[in-house]
Amino acid sequence: MKAVVLEAYNPEERLRVAEDWPRPVQRKGEVLVRVVATAVNRSVYKTANGFLPRFLATLPKVPGGDLAGEVVEGDEAGTFKPGDRVFACTDSWRPEVAWGTYAELCSVPAAHLARIPTDISYTDAAALCLTALTAFQALKAARLQQGQRVLVHAAAGGVGSAAVQIAKAQGLQVVATASAANADFVRSLGADQVIDYKQQRFEKVLAGSPVDAVIDTVGGDYEPRSLQVLKRSGTFVNLYAQFSLWPILKGKVRALLRLGPRYTTLFVSAGPDMQRVAELVAAEQLRPHVQAVMLLEQASVAHQLVYSGHTVGKVVLQVRAE
Ligand SMILES: NC(=O)c1ccc[n+]([C@@H]2O[C@H](COP(=O)([O-])OP(=O)(O)OC[C@H]3O[C@@H](n4cnc5c(N)ncnc54)[C@H](OP(=O)(O)O)[C@@H]3O)[C@@H](O)[C@H]2O)c1
Repeated sequence: MKAVVLEAYNPEERLRVAEDWPRPVQRKGEVLVRVVATAVNRSVYKTANGFLPRFLATLPKVPGGDLAGEVVEGDEAGTFKPGDRVFACTDSWRPEVAWGTYAELCSVPAAHLARIPTDISYTDAAALCLTALTAFQALKAARLQQGQRVLVHAAAGGVGSAAVQIAKAQGLQVVATASAANADFVRSLGADQVIDYKQQRFEKVLAGSPVDAVIDTVGGDYEPRSLQVLKRSGTFVNLYAQFSLWPILKGKVRALLRLGPRYTTLFVSAGPDMQRVAELVAAEQLRPHVQAVMLLEQASVAHQLVYSGHTVGKVVLQVRAE
């Protein structure tokens, strides 16, 4: 089958288009899917730079953790049948998993898949996999009640744009950080307040009106600054998730000593939450924003575009025509 193969992380990321890559083996409980579209995340970049556990990385590897496609072989339980339109966040974003979604075929545990709502294209569905699931799980970790306020950083990005919409669907008040160029887009997703992070310090704008949770995909000094505007009873969700025991330990120690807000480091987990994402899409409470669609062969260019850190919504790779 055709696949894009990651051959090296350093000194430069090396991706090669292979026309004769072996087909994945369909294991018990898995569904074989013909991939129509996948989306670009930063997991290769983050592995190369030690943000994800590089020591576990396997090469060569087919990257990609977002899948939208058609079932070729269903699972033995009959949950999915040939021809079903499905999407998923797959575990293959993890450095140690060799069989990802930048390929014509992918074998995925049935429990990770959900059916694509009928009026959504494969390209749009691919934009609502890993990042939408991450946003859903981040809000779940934040344990918010209807009417509470959440600060979503980088709200124009893949995770952020999904988090704003899901938070609104849950009846939350949303404060978002975005640049002025993306403020209208973020408002159109439902954000109640948008802070232009290039012109204003969000902790100054929010001084005196602390929030109940922060969803942080930016990291660096955003963490201490966010903690300044978080209620003592609130939750900080660390999604930039540098792979290190320190933030995890820090969260545990803080919780143990009751040093203020809960602190959670979250890595997205493929699984049945994808069904909830599908329900939000079907209810028109979550919609994709696709900045660009490129061919699978253009994966290298697409990666560099996403690594710029300034894309809006998602960049999608078309593996075969819809
Ligand atoms: N823990 C997990 O399981 C998990 C899962 C998915 C992603 N992530 C991580 O989360 C991070 C974000 O992922 P993503 O896919 O959402 O990123 P993305 O789509 O690449 O984010 C790009 C957006 O971030 C905005 N942005 C950049 N710097 C900003 C800042 N300082 N303040 C506010 N907005 C800023 C940009 O807006 P402007 O152009 O206006 O600057 C742009 O729209 C990445 O580090 C990714 O690895 C973690």
